[in-house]
Parts: sequence; structure tokens; C-alpha cells
Amino acid sequence: MRILGIETSCDETAAAIVSDGTIVEVNVIASSLLLHQKTGGIVPEIAARDSAEKIVLVIEEALEKANCDWKDLDAIAVTNGPGLLGSLMVGIEAAKTLALLYEKPLIPVFHIAGHIFSNVLERAELPTFPVVSLTVAGGHNDLYLWKEGHEIQRLGSTIDDAAGEAFDKGARLLGLSYPGGPALAKLAASGDPKSYDFPRPMRSSDDYNFSFSGLKTALFYAIEKAGGREKLSEKALADLAAAYQEAIADTLVTKLFLAAEEFEAREVHLAGGVSANLCLREKFLRKAEKLGLKTRIPAKIEYCTDNAAMIAAAGFAMWQKASVEQREKFSFKNIVVNLSHEFRFNS
Ligand code: KG4
Ligand code: ZN
Repeated sequence: MRILGIETSCDETAAAIVSDGTIVEVNVIASSLLLHQKTGGIVPEIAARDSAEKIVLVIEEALEKANCDWKDLDAIAVTNGPGLLGSLMVGIEAAKTLALLYEKPLIPVFHIAGHIFSNVLERAELPTFPVVSLTVAGGHNDLYLWKEGHEIQRLGSTIDDAAGEAFDKGARLLGLSYPGGPALAKLAASGDPKSYDFPRPMRSSDDYNFSFSGLKTALFYAIEKAGGREKLSEKALADLAAAYQEAIADTLVTKLFLAAEEFEAREVHLAGGVSANLCLREKFLRKAEKLGLKTRIPAKIEYCTDNAAMIAAAGFAMWQKASVEQREKFSFKNIVVNLSHEFRFNS
């Protein structure tokens, strides 16, 4: 089954063609990153306008690169939330028009389900269930239990900032440019993670929720105490970055493995933009090896950050799960924007 995936929930405008939920024929991503670098962050109207300009070009490029005609496609899968309203509407309206015109089923995909399914892309087999999956990015930060038959349940979430947001805000305090995650990780590479003792927020709380806003405040005060950013040497800035990154990664990994233990996971996964972070990956892989757990991290960096291949993969799983009657509901007539963060993975 060949699915065209469309993703426009935030600052990327993306289209991909994926066969049988795993084989990525093409994965086209146009980012409005350069525009957001100028403003130091994402401005929703700018992101939406940029997607409106690019959406048709990106879809056209995907079809051309995959040497694919509309008659060769079996369905379209589109992110219908959560995300930025204007950006989501661009992708949804494009998908609806194409589904109507070419008479294709249209599958609405919850953005974070896409991130969970980024770990089936380019893999010969499904994971060994149950899986505990940490999907961690700029706009979302959740822990999921993923069981046989694609039964997925959210175990916890951030109660304030997401880890990617903590990276971005921390980077800004350290005088780095947007997006902060990769910039902060680069600076941290030459720093000492033990130089500062940042808190590990909610690490021993009795649930699977996260909180990162206090950590950002702790970084702010550490910089203030040292006399302000301008007074800090390059080495001192690198030390702060390394210790801050360490605190984020430690917190994420601790909760992930507590959940893995409680739910007797056989596999643990990382997904989302922050799963590109090397410090997090190292801690995650080391701990999993110690516990004898299988691991997955998206096969390519471009599957960590927002992309449409993961949306096509999740769309395929939804199609597989659906009954004949449910499949009939996958239509341009039934698609609406849904901004709720409540997890959805139904037909
Ligand atoms: O998944 P994504 O593209 O967008 C959302 O759905 O939010 O993730 C973007 C986030 C940004 O906050 C960015 O700073 C972070 O992922 N990120 C990283 C790294 N690469 C991207 N954070 C830490 N280290 C990285 N190497
Ligand atoms: Zn995302």
C-alpha cells in the first residue's frame, strides 16, 4: 500500500511517499527555519504563510522524485493536529482537495502518533511489544506505552515546557541562535557536565509527568550569579550548557526506564526532535544495554524532527487496524482540524 503523507503542523512543510508503512520512497521537507532565525523563534503567521507558499511544490516534488502518478497512490494521510492552527489548515485543505480530486481515502493522523511510528520507518519488522516510547520535541514531551495491535496509551506528559523548548530557551539565555537544541548541544560538547548541579525536576515524583520550566529558571540564576552572560568565558558557557543538557537528558531517561520497568517493556524507543541529541542517546543506549532491553531511535535524523514519512507510517497502521466500515470514514468529508493534545489513534 502506497501512502502520500502530508505534515504541516509547525514550521515544516513536508510530503513523503511510503510503501507498506515502512519503505520510504521519498521524504521531502521544506523548513521555514531561516525565517524563524530572524525572529528568534516561530511566528505562527509566518510559518503558515510559508507553508501555503510551499505545500503544492513539496507534494509535486515528492511525486516526481518517487516517479509516482496519482493512480499509483492508495491513500493520503495528513496531520490534523495538534499544532499551529494556520499551518495545520494549509496541509489539511491541500489534502482534502487532492483526496476529492483523485478519489483517495484520507486518513487523519495525530501528530505525536506520527513520531511514535517514526521508529518503524526503514525497519524490516515491527518492534517487540510492549514498547515504552518517549516522544520528545519542542512542542510536545510525552511517554507512551505501545502494545500489540497498536494499542497506545499515554503514560505521562510535561506539565509546563517540553524538553525541546527547554533546550531552545536555555540556548537563548546562553546567547545561542534558534533552534537552540543543536546549538546548545554543540556548545556543550566542550563543557564539563559536572561543573554545575542543576535540578532534575520531578525525577522522583510518583507519576510519568515532566517539568522543565524550573530548570530554565535555574540556568537563568546561574548566569546571573556569575555576573551575566557577557562576563562568562567561552569555557564557562560550555560548562553551563553541558550541565544543563545533562540535567534534561538525565530526567528524561530516568522516567523512561521507570516506565519500562513498571510495564515490563521489551523495547524502549526515543522519537521527536530531541531524540537527535547525542547526550540523550548515549544515556538511553547505555541504560538499555545494562537492562538487556532492545532499543530504537529513528533510522535517520530527518525522521526525528517533523516529517511526513512518519505521518504516512502512522496512517498505514491506522488503515491496517480499521474495519471495512471504519475505512469508509477515511474521507475528505470527515477531516477537521483538532487542536486537542488528547492522544488519538483511532479509525
Ligand atoms: O520534532 P520537532 O521537529 O518539532 C516539534 O514537534 O516540536 O522538534 C524540534 C525540537 C526543537 O526544540 C529543537 O531545539 C530540538 O527539537 N532539537 C534538539 C536537537 N535537534 C533538534 N534538541 C537537542 N539536541 C539536538 N541535537
Ligand atoms: Zn513533532
